[in-house]
Amino acid sequence: MNDIECATDFAWLPKVELHCHIEGTMRPATVVDLAVANDIELPTRDVESLFQYEDLTGFLDVFWLVQSVLATPDDWERLAFESMIDGAAHGLRYREAFFTPARHLAAGQDLGEIIAALDRGLDMAERITRARCALILDFDRDFGAAAADAHMTELVSLKRAGRPGTERVIGIGMDSTELGVDPMSFVSAYSQAPEAGLRRTAHQGENSGADAIRAAVDGLGCERIDHGISIFEDPELVRRFADEQIPLTVCPNANVRINPGVVADLGDHVFPIMRDADLLATLNTDDPALVGLDLDQEYALCAETFGYDTGDMVAIALDAACASWLDDCDASVLMVEIKAAAAGAARAAADARSAAEARPLMPLSA
Ligand code: HPA
Ligand code: ZN
Repeated sequence: MNDIECATDFAWLPKVELHCHIEGTMRPATVVDLAVANDIELPTRDVESLFQYEDLTGFLDVFWLVQSVLATPDDWERLAFESMIDGAAHGLRYREAFFTPARHLAAGQDLGEIIAALDRGLDMAERITRARCALILDFDRDFGAAAADAHMTELVSLKRAGRPGTERVIGIGMDSTELGVDPMSFVSAYSQAPEAGLRRTAHQGENSGADAIRAAVDGLGCERIDHGISIFEDPELVRRFADEQIPLTVCPNANVRINPGVVADLGDHVFPIMRDADLLATLNTDDPALVGLDLDQEYALCAETFGYDTGDMVAIALDAACASWLDDCDASVLMVEIKAAAAGAARAAADARSAAEARPLMPLSA
């Protein structure tokens, strides 16, 4: 599936990911395994053709199909475990991952069981890797505001009851269709977040305008925006995001692959313009398995395309730690680790240069 070639490699760089849908990390082989086990019909078992789409609507159909194979708590546990094992292999150190259970809850699954199962899988992966993961419950806009309200109420009561794994759920967000959906219709669910100690974000500006980004921040109290690529429609909003350092969790390669009608080519992406405008814009994969690239490749392709050097990429990694919802102490620990890795990489590059200079030239007629 993943046949991307990158000249650069950022596996050495400890990375933080703030925009990644856990269902979108599902290994193709796991999709097929779970579909067979749960008697769910796939249009094809050839995942190369399964993961095909031409726009956000088509992508969401595939995303929903992948979600549909998660039928039991064991399936969620397996997904969570594999997700972090795979992320850690590419330098992931900390992730705030979305899970979007609307379809499963509508089909009779239990939110407490889903969260407990995700927690078990993540816990197991955390024991094996050094990577850590928090969770964000995403509302699926397609299921409407009433469903979001019900899921929020359920989440709050599970957290109050101290049910297993609920301490991992640190925030709420919303995803799926943006077009034609007024963010303000979700105000009731969002307004319950502060009292429950939950942070707030929302997918906006992937294919909605800057007015929707503004509504998410002003009306729903969002502290971050996922995507946000339409922000330049509103210069005043850009200045505000820069002044207040409101983070944008940007997914340049996913935008190109999922939404080629909006971003035709990585070179056309606004990410470098965001960074030049002093926006706290971070790099993320969105749905690594479905998009067919990992976080290391996201960093490498952006570095190559936007002409970023190692220092620029280290700055992006540090900004992701800063934009995370970790407390200051844990964020600082990650930042120290990122800086230490950067210093180590700089030393290794300097050593390699001096070794090359010290090497005697081969006589031509040896
Ligand atoms: N946009 C909206 N919903 C999603 C996405 C996305 O990029 N990925 C998974 N669900
Ligand atoms: Zn997303």
